Amino acid sequence: MTLDQPLPRPPCPDPSASNLHVAVIMDGNGRWATNRGWPRLVGHRKGAERVRELAQACPGLGIRYLTLYAFSTENWKRSTEEVLGLMSLFARYIKREAGRMNKEGVRLRFIGDRTRLDPKLQALCDWIEAETAQNDRFFLSVALNYGGRDEITRATRAMARDVAEGRLEADRIDEATISSYLDTSCLPEPDLVVRTSGESRVSNFLLWQAAYSEYVFTPVLWPDFTPETMRVILDTFLSRERRFGGVPA
Ligand code: IPE
Ligand code: IPE
Ligand code: MG
Repeated sequence: MTLDQPLPRPPCPDPSASNLHVAVIMDGNGRWATNRGWPRLVGHRKGAERVRELAQACPGLGIRYLTLYAFSTENWKRSTEEVLGLMSLFARYIKREAGRMNKEGVRLRFIGDRTRLDPKLQALCDWIEAETAQNDRFFLSVALNYGGRDEITRATRAMARDVAEGRLEADRIDEATISSYLDTSCLPEPDLVVRTSGESRVSNFLLWQAAYSEYVFTPVLWPDFTPETMRVILDTFLSRERRFGGVPA
């Protein structure tokens, strides 16, 4: 391979066919449960049901790409019970949803560093990605052990390795090169990032990709989030003027 040839990358969806990309920081499960005097895991279980409901509603709302923040690189700080509970919820979700995803044309992918996950969960992630790889009606991405800084760090390491081994020329690295080394290399940039539960922070989500995304922060706790909540948020988003550094038309 010569220096001029880019590394082979997985095929990307046709960008001309792409529709809205919405990314969601699904926050507030713990508070939802605590408010009712229930263990935090009950909130996570309820939150997982909301994921299924929203994913099914997305195509009808004009959303073709949905990226969900499910577990951050910082979430390992939580109790062992909560972390293990979340991990088994992810595994159950994958097993339970596979058939439906294929029926509905959903391609599921994971972003984040899966090497720190339990090998059985890693295998399930690999399995469902392969199982749904042919689907192209709707693209669901789940951020598992994901951190924007960690993703950029891993990408930088991979680029450095490719430079050292002669597959990449340092002077040719541009923004597109960096994007192509990120976990999201086959996704368009998010048009909109939504965060639930009233917190107004990014918490290490899609730091590079969301440089020009619109943000909506809603007080709704994730287990109370319905397709109708998303529809109202989309109305707000669609009424905004995105200028990308230019001047109003
Ligand atoms: C979001 O809900 C889910 C994860 C981070 C895994 P939280 O668990 O953060 O809920 P709160 O913020 O404590 O209410
Ligand atoms: C962000 O929520 C991560 C996920 C939703 C998976 P957190 O609850 O972990 O974020 P902080 O601690 O409020 O910043
Ligand atoms: Mg939280």
